[in-house]
Amino acid sequence: MQYYEYQKSNNCAPADMKRNPPWRVALTVNMKGVIGWPIDAPPDAGAEFDQKETVEAIAAALEADGHWVTICPADHTLPAALLDLQPHFVFNIAEGIGGDAREAQVPALCELLGIPYTASRVLTNALSLDKTQTKRIWQNLGLPTPRYQEFHTGQELIDPSLRYPMFIKPAREGTGMGMGPRSIVHTESELRERVAWVIETYKQPALVEEFLSGREFTVGFIGNPGFPGMRSWPTLYNFDGYHFFPVLEIDTGRCVTPGVYGYKAKSLYLEKTGAPGYLCPADIPAGLRDQLYALTKEAAEAIGVCDVARVDFRLDADGNPFMLEINTLPGLNQELSDLCIMAQAEGISYYLLITEILYLAAERFQLPTPSVSASRLLLMTALRQLEPALVAR
Ligand SMILES: Nc1ncnc2c1ncn2[C@@H]1O[C@H](COP(=O)(O)OP(=O)(O)OP(=O)(O)O)[C@@H](O)[C@H]1O
Ligand SMILES: [Mg+2]
Repeated sequence: MQYYEYQKSNNCAPADMKRNPPWRVALTVNMKGVIGWPIDAPPDAGAEFDQKETVEAIAAALEADGHWVTICPADHTLPAALLDLQPHFVFNIAEGIGGDAREAQVPALCELLGIPYTASRVLTNALSLDKTQTKRIWQNLGLPTPRYQEFHTGQELIDPSLRYPMFIKPAREGTGMGMGPRSIVHTESELRERVAWVIETYKQPALVEEFLSGREFTVGFIGNPGFPGMRSWPTLYNFDGYHFFPVLEIDTGRCVTPGVYGYKAKSLYLEKTGAPGYLCPADIPAGLRDQLYALTKEAAEAIGVCDVARVDFRLDADGNPFMLEINTLPGLNQELSDLCIMAQAEGISYYLLITEILYLAAERFQLPTPSVSASRLLLMTALRQLEPALVAR
């Protein structure tokens, strides 16, 4: 019998950890088409995984700032890869594989190995993946989220206070997985059938919510609480440390899954038939916009979000906003992802969006962020002078 001997040379906290950028960056990702799914996997398994073009665009943005980027699959090979690479930083977009908190896998590994990483931490990513748990926290704080019931077996008595129509989704998926027009149910028999299908297909609880029939918005931000004076782009942020992008309205009326921003609609390029309409900034009164921003901030702080997030909203029939869920690893596809559409509408380039996420995380880990170079400052100033452009497609 022998104990595995921890090699000093494998210690992932390199001596030059606090060095100035550029850094060795491990980009941790689960890419589409890489792993094979078991025969009983859901039809949209892996929908959340990233496209090669997204991963390469993020790597290119980081490399444009001088970093050395290695793309690392976030699977069983990751621990060895990180020990071998000894990165100064992990840029994490990995959805993870298996278990009930897969988005927390890379953060947990980084914490175990002592490597700084971007975006939210273990508990936050575990919570945000679990829509029901997140809603419990929001509800306790009095934040508006549709009334709901979670079904584990499908045999539970239905809460008599819930009103039809209702909306049914897997409790721990994203990218509209398991969601389409058939998610909307009007009777108990429809509800039972759909709940059984979700539990059976996704091997997890079904979340049943009251259906919100109003307009749909999504609100994204980058930032962290605290005065932003020492950041690489201080003027981008409000005094409280956040930058909110213009609100994006999703018009699901004309999309392939009418009334629902489901997986099929999310995967269509913007101009394609069946894609939803995107309007940014949304044409809404300033009062509603500010209410959405305030709710997003409270919702994010309630679960301890770091660096970046996006909260999805719907209005009820009376025009009141309710929060559906929060995305703590929001998609970063330059063309398709809501957060990138918002940044683009404001004139913030993809390169600046990606590098800001890295430097926000660096600030949290007390790593030196780049002093603002003359060219970067010029670029930022030029961009800030642009008026938000309406993206309407
Ligand atoms: N209670 C509800 N009432 C009305 N529509 C809903 C409701 N819940 C979800 N939807 C519709 O389904 C879509 C997907 O739902 P939700 O945002 O909860 O799932 P998701 O798969 O986690 O999304 P994302 O891709 O943002 O991770 C919403 O954008 C909305 O169109
Ligand atoms: Mg969503």
